[in-house]
Amino acid sequence: MRRETAGYVVGMEPSDLPQQRRLVTPVPGPRSQQLMERRRAAIPAAVGTTLPVFAARASGGIVEDVDGNRFIDLAAGIAVTSVGSSAPRVVDAVTAQVAAFTHTCFQVTPYESYVEVCEALNRLTPGDHSKRSFLVNSGAEAVENAVKIARSATGRQAVVAFDHGFHGRTLMGMSLTGKVMPYKQGFGPFAPEVYRAPYSYPYRGTGDLTATLAFLDKTVGAANVAAVVVEPIAGEGGFIVPAPGWLAGLAEWCRTNGVVLVADEVQTGFARTGAWFACEHEGVVPDIVATAKALGGGLPIGGITARADLVDKVHPGGLGGTFGGNPLACASALAVIETIETDGLLERSRHIGELLLDRLTALATSYDAIGDVRGRGAMVAIELVDGNGAPNASLTARVAAACHAEGVLVLTAGSYGNVLRFLPPLVISDELLDEAMTVLEKVLATEMSSDH
Ligand SMILES: Cc1ncc(COP(=O)(O)O)c(C=O)c1O
Repeated sequence: MRRETAGYVVGMEPSDLPQQRRLVTPVPGPRSQQLMERRRAAIPAAVGTTLPVFAARASGGIVEDVDGNRFIDLAAGIAVTSVGSSAPRVVDAVTAQVAAFTHTCFQVTPYESYVEVCEALNRLTPGDHSKRSFLVNSGAEAVENAVKIARSATGRQAVVAFDHGFHGRTLMGMSLTGKVMPYKQGFGPFAPEVYRAPYSYPYRGTGDLTATLAFLDKTVGAANVAAVVVEPIAGEGGFIVPAPGWLAGLAEWCRTNGVVLVADEVQTGFARTGAWFACEHEGVVPDIVATAKALGGGLPIGGITARADLVDKVHPGGLGGTFGGNPLACASALAVIETIETDGLLERSRHIGELLLDRLTALATSYDAIGDVRGRGAMVAIELVDGNGAPNASLTARVAAACHAEGVLVLTAGSYGNVLRFLPPLVISDELLDEAMTVLEKVLATEMSSDH
């Protein structure tokens, strides 16, 4: 069914969407500007906007706005639409499910698709030990539940997170997060018994394994620690890939000390890094894996996959929630997993990574402002610096804004706000990626010639 809203058509087949960058108005265009006015009146500014255009359709590697502009999508809704927005299998599965039933609450009347998603999580997450999974609504909720399980299973209280870490916007998510602005400012007091350890940041030469383990032993004390919560690649922190062996060393320390290792794979999971999970690159098998984002293919869902012996210690009724593993989200998740498996999206992710790293590494030889190029699979970033190697957040903001004005949707990240990150849908074409890199190159040339 098609519906006219403010002059544009909602409900057109997204697969009709031409895979071409196209600017038909300045960015934002007049319709987006009108909607931004309404947004400003109705919605707090605290809910931010990266690109002030309103979406009408999205598919493949393109997001089309209400003015008809088409943007090359290097954001995938922050690592969510990895199989593409409105991916065909997702559309079919969710359409069938919405007609069958929309909700019963899994704890009231279970349904098979929830069990199937959990079986898939148990199968796909690292390690062949006995596991159990359950489902929630978001990444933050997945992390919260991982901490609950670890505390319950160990009888200990302390939770260790890391510099540059991001784990969500709930009380525990904020408490674990390492960056005050914008995530924590004014929102305290935070949850107690949360400690922040150094994270391995090779480009900045901080957080080697010795420093990290010394902090755990001397400042927190192994016997007090229920869980270490770690992103295998720091996402919001700036796509920081820890030094080889750092994650494995941390895992070994956890094993030796009876500490639950929680891998927050919310951003890195489900093919983003060229493997199902980023821990696989380091041969690390976590005790608990928290997932969300790409698992749902655009529908809200989070997963907690835990060692059976740990989660079985939690009392009946201690875990769950009204909407967790909603049938529409489960139908979508199963379609996402099938799409990754059937369409070879792990390989595709690795290919995208090679393409982006090649182009960006070449660019870095021309521009000293690119201090570092890093990433794994289709999770790639550049860190922009000034002449002294200090983070250059203002250049980063200008480059991002100029890319947006040219029809390329990029995101910024990083504890110092100086990272441009690229995380396209895995179904984007090579041609669009190439074009996006060419736009970035032009933008950098312009910015650098006007940078004083
Ligand atoms: C690593 C990580 N953990 C947790 C979260 C929180 O997920 P959500 O926004 O779904 O609550 C995010 C979101 O960006 C994330 O990147």
